[in-house]
Amino acid sequence: MVEEANNKLLNADDGPACEQSAVDGVKYYTLEDIRLHNMSTDTWLIINDKVYDITSFLEEHPGGEEVLLEQAGSDATESFEDVGHSTDAREMLEQYYVGELHLDDRKKEKPKEANVTHPGESSAWSSWLISAVAAAAVGVAYRYFIFEHKSS
Ligand code: HEM
Repeated sequence: MVEEANNKLLNADDGPACEQSAVDGVKYYTLEDIRLHNMSTDTWLIINDKVYDITSFLEEHPGGEEVLLEQAGSDATESFEDVGHSTDAREMLEQYYVGELHLDDRKKEKPKEANVTHPGESSAWSSWLISAVAAAAVGVAYRYFIFEHKSS
């Protein structure tokens, strides 16, 4: 029953009126939901698929509020990581956490390189095979030559 209700919430796409979905108490927000929180009086951003309401942090940010406002309402993961924030900075994030980015809006992980033959590998293997066949042919020819020579 509860699961059914959660699924309904997660799949709901009733437009902006339905801003969040909840599964096991975790709130999920779509990119569209988050984009609406893009002003200095209401600032949200995404870092590593987590959503943060940093409105009260803007003035406290050691890097200034400008940089945060530039990212407001969007995914700030790259700029956050590029700065090389300290562990303290990462721990600070927790207090501004409001939920998760909706699964449908997450960047898809790159598919793993399974069964991919690297160009170098296959050519190395085939040249080894050619050498082996050539060596065998030379051996056979030599034996044939010796045999012929003895019998004549
Ligand atoms: C809510 C997320 C963020 C938190 C909690 C946070 C926190 C901090 C903290 C504590 C520092 C001091 C240095 C350190 O401890 O690493 C810092 C510095 C800085 N932050 Fe952030 N930050 C956040 C997001 C961002 C974003 C999205 C940018 C985007 C460009 C940014 C840019 C900077 C810069 C440029 C500095 C360097 C200041 C300096 O060394 O002069 N920060 N931040």
